[in-house]
Amino acid sequence: MASSFGIKDEGLIKTQGFIDGNWVNAAGGGIIDVHNPATNEKLGTVPEMGAPETQDAIEAAGKAFKSWSRTTPKHRHDILMKFYALMQEHHEDLSRIITLENGKTLTEAKAENTYSASFVEWFAEEAIRTYGEHIPSPFPNVRNVVIKQPVGVCAILTPWNFPSAMITRKLAPALAAGCTVVMKPPPETPFSALALVELARRAGVPDGVINVVTTQKNVAEVGKEMCESKIVKKVTFTGSTAVAKLLYSMSASTLKKISFEAGGNAPFIVFGDADIDAAVEGAIACKFRATGQTCICANRIYVQSSVYAEFASRLAEKVSAFKVGNGLKEDTTHGPLIHERAVEKVEKHIANAVSQGAQVLVGGKKIEGNFFAPTVLSDVPATVDLAYEETFGPLAALIKFETEEEVVKLANDSVYGLAGYFFSRDVGRVWRVAEALEVGMVGTNTGLISQAVIPFGGVKESGLGREGGHGIEEYMITKVIAFGGL
Ligand code: SIN
Repeated sequence: MASSFGIKDEGLIKTQGFIDGNWVNAAGGGIIDVHNPATNEKLGTVPEMGAPETQDAIEAAGKAFKSWSRTTPKHRHDILMKFYALMQEHHEDLSRIITLENGKTLTEAKAENTYSASFVEWFAEEAIRTYGEHIPSPFPNVRNVVIKQPVGVCAILTPWNFPSAMITRKLAPALAAGCTVVMKPPPETPFSALALVELARRAGVPDGVINVVTTQKNVAEVGKEMCESKIVKKVTFTGSTAVAKLLYSMSASTLKKISFEAGGNAPFIVFGDADIDAAVEGAIACKFRATGQTCICANRIYVQSSVYAEFASRLAEKVSAFKVGNGLKEDTTHGPLIHERAVEKVEKHIANAVSQGAQVLVGGKKIEGNFFAPTVLSDVPATVDLAYEETFGPLAALIKFETEEEVVKLANDSVYGLAGYFFSRDVGRVWRVAEALEVGMVGTNTGLISQAVIPFGGVKESGLGREGGHGIEEYMITKVIAFGGL
């Protein structure tokens, strides 16, 4: 059941899972209610599936792999380009679905759809460039040729913060490589995923190549089925480090290929020699994107003492001008958090910082429902909880530092290593600090690094493997063929 999403093509709203080319309900008839985080209104329902449906989906993907893996890269490129064109054609509808189920503003949702489609375009183009190589042999009668082949059935598990882009970042390279998939979208935002599947189907992706299992309560058994199945050859996940560890350990039973983008706790450093206006803009883009709910959002903002007061007051002035509200309203700059638990986490981090001497410059409390006032804290001690745990909310905590050496040590004092940012106009420092930060991605003099073309991923407990960029490799195996007897 679905309420009206107020979109042009209501055929994009699917309320069932998708297995072997059929839209299906849960065997036990269970459903999951999906709510708009801005209004708490019920948007619709999707099935509460479990292990049996996951097995069916895996079998369908295994069967479809036999033919899909043998299609030519050009064929897959053409289908992906049709899928890309359909995402452009339905830009307004897809963006509205994102806003309704995730809460982000329509402007951000449109940016997400563009970002999401860019993965489809990028991997369509990568499909036809999965080159192998020739390796000269030390033996005169042997020639070595290396080829790339699709790894097999892939299990894809995605988060709610980018309901569309996190799907295409995994689905597009899998399809481009010649893999088939079983996807588990998040229960908070399943409709974007299902709309994309409908468009992929319209673009000509054959039955069984994409399968979707929706689940909430049964997530543990669905995850186990995916990770322990002998048919599934790869698991890819974006989400928390705790869940990544669980999936990693379960995948060990069959030694699957894996790529995980897990938690982050990005440091954002402003040196005294920075362009302060640019640093403030960078902090806003980086910290408050999606109301602070991205894995690469700045979580700890370190500001050198010489520019601390200036940076704090300029940031506070900009943040106090934000308009928090329903993402569908034109003047809204920041939408709600996804749910009550997210609100509570921000409250907890503020209370902890304030109890240790932090001052609230702007915001500091819940507005109503899932809406939280964008917050700037100053005089934050370097040892508060948020320095070690991801907040995932609109909280900019400003920590003062004196020297480059001190701040690099503070920035690296984390189990996480996804993204890190810093602003400086000293070219020597730019190189030194970029090399010293223990992260997979550095933004220097920019707060926005996300693009389909970059190798996206982390180090330490922020994950394994890279998406985007050369990420098609994560969906392929390397095979050597030694030609003898020449
Ligand atoms: C994420 O939050 O996991 C992804 C953010 C991005 O791709 O920009």
